[in-house]
Amino acid sequence: MDTIRYGIIGAGMMGREHIRNLQLIPGAVVTAVSDPDPDQRALSQDLAGRGCTAFADHCELLARNLCDAFVVASPNHTHVDVLKDLLPADRPILVEKPLCTTVEDSRTIVALAARRKAPVWVAMEYRYMPPLQRLMRELAEGTAGRLHMISIREHRYPFLRKVGDWNRFAANTGGTLVEKCCHFFDLMRLLAGAAPVRVYASGGMDVNFLDEDYGGRRPDILDNAFVVVDFANGVRAMLDLCMFAEGSYWQEQISAVGDRARVDALIPGPARFSADGRERPAEIVVSPRATKVERREAVHTDETILSAGDHHGSTYFQHRKFFDMVRDGGRPEVTLEDGLMAVVMGAAAERSARTGEAVDLRGAL
Ligand SMILES: NC(=O)c1ccc[n+]([C@@H]2O[C@H](COP(=O)([O-])OP(=O)(O)OC[C@H]3O[C@@H](n4cnc5c(N)ncnc54)[C@H](O)[C@@H]3O)[C@@H](O)[C@H]2O)c1
Repeated sequence: MDTIRYGIIGAGMMGREHIRNLQLIPGAVVTAVSDPDPDQRALSQDLAGRGCTAFADHCELLARNLCDAFVVASPNHTHVDVLKDLLPADRPILVEKPLCTTVEDSRTIVALAARRKAPVWVAMEYRYMPPLQRLMRELAEGTAGRLHMISIREHRYPFLRKVGDWNRFAANTGGTLVEKCCHFFDLMRLLAGAAPVRVYASGGMDVNFLDEDYGGRRPDILDNAFVVVDFANGVRAMLDLCMFAEGSYWQEQISAVGDRARVDALIPGPARFSADGRERPAEIVVSPRATKVERREAVHTDETILSAGDHHGSTYFQHRKFFDMVRDGGRPEVTLEDGLMAVVMGAAAERSARTGEAVDLRGAL
């Protein structure tokens, strides 16, 4: 198969980031988009260009044999029903995170997908950021020694405005610690190489959207939190999330500390939200205990790739691998089980933030 025809289901902000990145891959062509919102549909169809058919309903799209693979980028709470419709088609699927908004729905999808042959890949883009790939390489090469601690700090801009304001309510998103932090829980699991056993979180909605009102409904999503996760192999991890800190130079600061050294990946936010609107390189910093001499290097990513999205090039690199899997066969790097585990951890963190109690995950696995 030289050309792979993609159908994008949910053609809003992230759907268009997928289209722009697929346009950078020779052989990838977006032949269909579906979105109930006429403006979003038209914007995405225009972006995809000639040969792209637009549908208001993904079932109409499915009924036509226009696509070899699907990308699901509709709002979080729609994933479960969209996936139930897509799974029987037995074509490869890339589904945006979080897999679903609840653990129960995520488990339902894992069970339904067990009956089919074509792979489902959960879009955990952050794994594919070049500075994180570099951090993982350093850990694999033993730079840090035996890993003990992981710290992930994301200090960024508030949630953006979305079509129909779906992201203002935890019922639609799963809650902030599921919605966006599933990325970080997935990274923690990947770096720790073990299962999570306990989660404790403290969080609140203290600054953002306090004066917003949607027909009598107030937003109910956390805008800051600390989360601590213990892993079965003794590794401990911490997330420090603040969504009213867009003045920070680095958006993500990810540290892995072993008995030999600390390795940091420092990642800037999207250029379009920075003071000067310019792309900036990421950095990797190695701080060995033996020499106490820090090694700091820029990690450069092609500007065309950076400017195709808001996620430091990761959408492109993930699509490259997804494309290869669809063309050549093979298993997804991020499986439905990975997607489920990220929701399990995020939902536990949401529960802990509400109750003030640590959540034991050993029975949940
Ligand atoms: N991986 C990442 O870093 C990342 C970043 C942003 C968003 N996302 C995910 O991408 C998804 C979309 O987010 P967004 O920021 O593009 O939101 P958005 O509101 O900009 O776009 C969502 C689009 O889906 C459409 N839609 C609603 N119901 C639909 C349905 N049943 N079928 C098809 N389309 C439907 C809406 O009309 C809208 O145009 C979410 O799951 C979100 O969590 C992931």
